[in-house]
Amino acid sequence: FDGNNLSVWKYKDALPVKIKPVSLREGGTPLYKIEKIESGVKNLFVKHEGLNPSGSFKDRGMTVGVTKAVELKMRTVICASTGNTSASMAMYAAKAGLRAVVILPSGKVALGKLAQALMHGAKVIAVKDNFDKALEIVKSLAMRKSLYLLNSINPFRLEGQKTIAYEIYDELGFVPDAIFVPVGNAGNISAIYKGFKELVEMGYTDEVPRMIGVQAKGANPIYKAFVKGSREIEPVKNPETIATAIRIGAPVNAKKALRAIYESKGAVIEVGDEEIVEAQKMLAAKEGIGVEPASAASLAGALKFEEELESAVCIATGNLLKDPDEVIRVCGKPIEVEADVDVIEKLL
Ligand code: F0G
Repeated sequence: FDGNNLSVWKYKDALPVKIKPVSLREGGTPLYKIEKIESGVKNLFVKHEGLNPSGSFKDRGMTVGVTKAVELKMRTVICASTGNTSASMAMYAAKAGLRAVVILPSGKVALGKLAQALMHGAKVIAVKDNFDKALEIVKSLAMRKSLYLLNSINPFRLEGQKTIAYEIYDELGFVPDAIFVPVGNAGNISAIYKGFKELVEMGYTDEVPRMIGVQAKGANPIYKAFVKGSREIEPVKNPETIATAIRIGAPVNAKKALRAIYESKGAVIEVGDEEIVEAQKMLAAKEGIGVEPASAASLAGALKFEEELESAVCIATGNLLKDPDEVIRVCGKPIEVEADVDVIEKLL
């Protein structure tokens, strides 16, 4: 027994890998029905990708990407990251016995993610610039040295992430009207769409869901392209949002994502930081689903979507524990008092 039937590798026949996978039992995440939050969607679900081994959906792509690195006999893997990719890559590289190098935008990576990359043994380098610049550097380095690049330009990453679509279909037994996905580098929305298209090609169904991308207002190049009806993006020079995971101005998978959005009659919605925090709080306090800010963007998008839908799934991409500083900022610190029963009783 290897646990494969409980992970992404349940779908190994649809994954382009021949060797034994480097797996930490990723995938198989819960799909929760939203019960208390009101929206224009009759049956709204949240897929909690924050319950993957490293706490984000990146693990689905990393199990495939790192296995590929092993298959190709690469010794070192590298990525640029807003945090989650680096945490996941460091974890899978540790499992596989590979060296890991991560390049991060200095001061803009949530503490939990940084902690993971450090503890799982990656060489962590923080550059005094943003994610887009870090990715540029990583691409140049990978051309110069034999470093295996594991950002989502690597197609094997997307192969793993497409299993989100398979799982949704497996669990619901039907294709929902829409999927809401937070969009940063635009890999995940492209991957999920690929998964649904394959379900059609394999004859399981004849429809795909509308792919709805959600971007933060301060980091919205795909939203701007969508509003113009264009397939080209104009990079946002100094992206800024509380959702640091999607603080990206020049998404590498923009073309693929826009194709998925147009082909599926989807849309792109932009949400402000206040809307993101509001959605994050609602998910946590009303539904018991703890997510990081970027992940709450999908729900914020669904709440803002103007059409009525019969069914939709919001992808909650990362765990609440990833960004404890943000939580303290938006919830405040706990009240500190003397250890006295009477004093505390009065506070209740
Ligand atoms: N949500 C979270 C929590 C993420 O970490 C990311 C991307 C996204 C959404 C957007 O996914 O890039 O495929 O459109 N994080 C990357 C990283 C960029 O480095 O961890 P995308």
